[in-house]
Amino acid sequence: MTNKLEVRNLTHKFNDGNGVHVLDNLSLDVADGEFVTLLGPSGSGKSTIFNLIGGLYAPDAGDIYIDGARVNGTRGNISYLPQQDSLLPWRTIEDNVVLVQEITGDVDKETARRWLQRAGLEGYEKSYPNTLSGGMRQRVAFIRSLLSPQELMLLDEPFGALDELTRLDMQDWLLKIWEMDRRSVLFITHSIEEALYMSDRILVLSDKPARIAREIEVPFERPRDHDIILDEEFTRLKRDIYHMLRTSDVED
Ligand SMILES: Nc1ncnc2c1ncn2[C@@H]1O[C@H](COP(=O)(O)OP(=O)(O)OP(=O)(O)O)[C@@H](O)[C@H]1O
Ligand SMILES: [Mg+2]
Repeated sequence: MTNKLEVRNLTHKFNDGNGVHVLDNLSLDVADGEFVTLLGPSGSGKSTIFNLIGGLYAPDAGDIYIDGARVNGTRGNISYLPQQDSLLPWRTIEDNVVLVQEITGDVDKETARRWLQRAGLEGYEKSYPNTLSGGMRQRVAFIRSLLSPQELMLLDEPFGALDELTRLDMQDWLLKIWEMDRRSVLFITHSIEEALYMSDRILVLSDKPARIAREIEVPFERPRDHDIILDEEFTRLKRDIYHMLRTSDVED
């Protein structure tokens, strides 16, 4: 399999604030069509990795390649769902969804409406974000990422703010959509169960400066069902990862 994303020896330090050394020589890959999850403590540098891949700023050292081309510090190469709700409050749902298409000059409202329908948001096209629930807003933000032309999607804790039941529904919903076209995904979550349920591979980060402490290949067949949490292998992996997270600042 070819790699969609290659991150090589990324090192980054913020010089403002407390001058935190966030990343130290971090490398990772995402293969074409692969679903990879970053799991790590709060403040370990997960969103920073996304901001660097998204080109919001350039790393102090290291290289980022998408489809083999070096993209350090350049924007527009990925579809990015940021950690905070990123809908623009003054735009309707439909106009939020086509925002990226407006930038690339290729607006397709018909497809946008079809996706909103599939996401159970029919009738909300002309509504404003403040009249939707958190889960609905996340679906809108996700559809916007989905309609962006880039083949690599970065999803930063998309379900972090949702209650447990809504979260399970959203996981299934996202996997169903992902399985239709298997885009390459790099996903962030705090939840070990979510990581095991969603991913092909999990990268466990150490506390900062972050590096990949461990890597886990998730063995479960797709399409998956929430019953796998009852599987012995699932429980074993969950326990292993829990221990890794607790000891990930210790050198192997
Ligand atoms: N623009 C910035 N300027 C200064 N420090 C920053 C900046 N962005 C992040 N940091 C610091 O870098 C560290 C990593 O932050 P980051 O947001 O990447 O963590 P995270 O792993 O995404 O955490 P969480 O799980 O809580 O979202 C933190 O200590 C944070 O204070
Ligand atoms: Mg974050």
